[in-house]
Amino acid sequence: MMNLRAPRHPSISYRPIQPTDLDVLVKIHSDLFPIRYEIEFFHNVVHGHDIVSWGAVDRNRPNGESDELIGFVTARIIMAKESEIEDMLRYDKSRSDQALVYILTLGVVESYRNFGIATSLIREVIKYGSSMPNCRAVYLHVISYNNSAIHLYQKMSFLCVRRLNSFYFINGQHYDAYLFIYYVNGGRSPCSPLELVTLLVTYMRRGLKLVSSRVWKKGEKNVGPKRVKYRDKVLFHFHHLNLV
Ligand SMILES: CC(C)(COP(=O)(O)OP(=O)(O)OC[C@H]1O[C@@H](n2cnc3c(N)ncnc32)[C@H](O)[C@@H]1OP(=O)(O)O)[C@@H](O)C(=O)NCCC(=O)NCCS
Repeated sequence: MMNLRAPRHPSISYRPIQPTDLDVLVKIHSDLFPIRYEIEFFHNVVHGHDIVSWGAVDRNRPNGESDELIGFVTARIIMAKESEIEDMLRYDKSRSDQALVYILTLGVVESYRNFGIATSLIREVIKYGSSMPNCRAVYLHVISYNNSAIHLYQKMSFLCVRRLNSFYFINGQHYDAYLFIYYVNGGRSPCSPLELVTLLVTYMRRGLKLVSSRVWKKGEKNVGPKRVKYRDKVLFHFHHLNLV
């Protein structure tokens, strides 16, 4: 594990990843991830072959280290038609140039965490995707137990759209993954299954509110507690569905 100590007042700046970052990039990946990446992947990152990337450095580190990576994000452009989330996008299917940005890896060395570095790196990816008129979304997979990353994506308004059983196979064990999407340039499908459920629930809630307010208005003596009971029951289901 890279044993860096963050200075009291780090001065973080962001820049493209370049060939001189190769060794540090390999090291941080092997420190942070349980998956081993081929050397070809790192060469593609540092040379920008089919991969876009951003690095974070701390300008306040001692000379010689002030340009060393302490965080990174790597991503690839994928054609919407060839992606696994095609059914979750709104776009003109007759156009073959519609694209997505898929985040491959994201990491920040331990001593620099919770400074907002990953947030800024992801913002760069979103900015990049939004600047491509043919891009419809930024998306990624995250292993189901990675709470800090899940918290981060939720905080940044990514939508969790799927749980994929046994998506990862690591050291002889299967792990589920969540698929998170951040729509850009109007790429959001109006009819995803999750949205249909949300619409249905909103409709039911409105209906229930209307009925209960009418009953309430009638001023029956025993109506009060009953109303609360039913509402609580319904809300329990909403909470269960993570919809409120
Ligand atoms: C996930 C990771 C990239 C986050 O980097 P970071 O620079 O610390 O992220 P940020 O500072 O931008 O934001 C971190 C947020 O997560 C929260 N957080 C940190 N650990 C957490 C945990 N165990 N559970 C819930 N939230 C957590 C922080 O409080 C912060 O949220 P806040 O701004 O609401 O307070 C970093 O932890 C990491 O490199 N992990 C190992 C590699 C990895 O898992 N990559 C993601 C693969 S999908």
